[in-house]
Amino acid sequence: MQRLTKKWHRDGAHVGLVPTMGYLHEGHLSLVREARKRVGKKGKVTVSIYVNPTQFAPAEDFSKYPRDLKRDCAMLRKEGVDVVFAPTDGEMYPAGSTGGEATLFSTYVVEEKLSKAMEGVSRPAHFRGVTTVVAKLFNLVLPDVAVFGQKDFQQATIIRRMVRDLNFPVRVIVAPTVREADGLAMSSRNKYLEGDLRRQATVLRRAMDAAHAALKRSKKISAARLKADTRKLIESEPDARLDYVEFFEPETLAPVADVSTGVRMALAVVVGKTRLIDNETL
Ligand code: PAF
Repeated sequence: MQRLTKKWHRDGAHVGLVPTMGYLHEGHLSLVREARKRVGKKGKVTVSIYVNPTQFAPAEDFSKYPRDLKRDCAMLRKEGVDVVFAPTDGEMYPAGSTGGEATLFSTYVVEEKLSKAMEGVSRPAHFRGVTTVVAKLFNLVLPDVAVFGQKDFQQATIIRRMVRDLNFPVRVIVAPTVREADGLAMSSRNKYLEGDLRRQATVLRRAMDAAHAALKRSKKISAARLKADTRKLIESEPDARLDYVEFFEPETLAPVADVSTGVRMALAVVVGKTRLIDNETL
């Protein structure tokens, strides 16, 4: 992969990377189109497909995470992607083991501030896995531009911080969330939502709409009050449980006491057994 990118660079082409875990949907394709726009017709777009074990906790859905490389490659071929980079676990983490004593892999990239809140509370080792694998992908693919989705707002903020702190020569682009017609943010995990759970999952969208509406009625509302209202709405669905809802400054992720226009709202909700996240600027 490095040899290929170096050749592309020698030939004067800009290189764009869209890191994914596969099982692609329209949201991923919008990132691919953004990458193409950024590097131009003569540029090269690489999509990485790798379900990264180090960002999943032992009880999470790593083994059942949906995978379909053949279908993904067909979709990407239609988009005119130049290369699909789909490494194996053994290539990414020598010895194939990531936590046990036998591992030959022992170097991680850790962002120490922004990773602690929200997703980091529920998933303490998650962002260490994300920053490590993204740093590895940057070193492997050597992109000029990398495109991430806004649905994972905290992830994108942490990656921007990592790029700045560690001087990666990569421009990070964060592209808008793509939604289903009923407002549910596209996610590979939506596949888990069967029957009425799919309908109940729209409660994340409805919770953000309710916060927008509340802010229209009064210009400033206490975060505590909005959190309580959000919890009530989420828990009106029989199979939905609020993991967290947070109101914060978008750059620093610092929580605010009073919510006004421009503050970002993020929430994680477990619907049935599926954990969904979403966020938006109010
Ligand atoms: O957002 C994702 O799909 C993953 O966290 C990423 C960035 C591909 C790293 O594994």
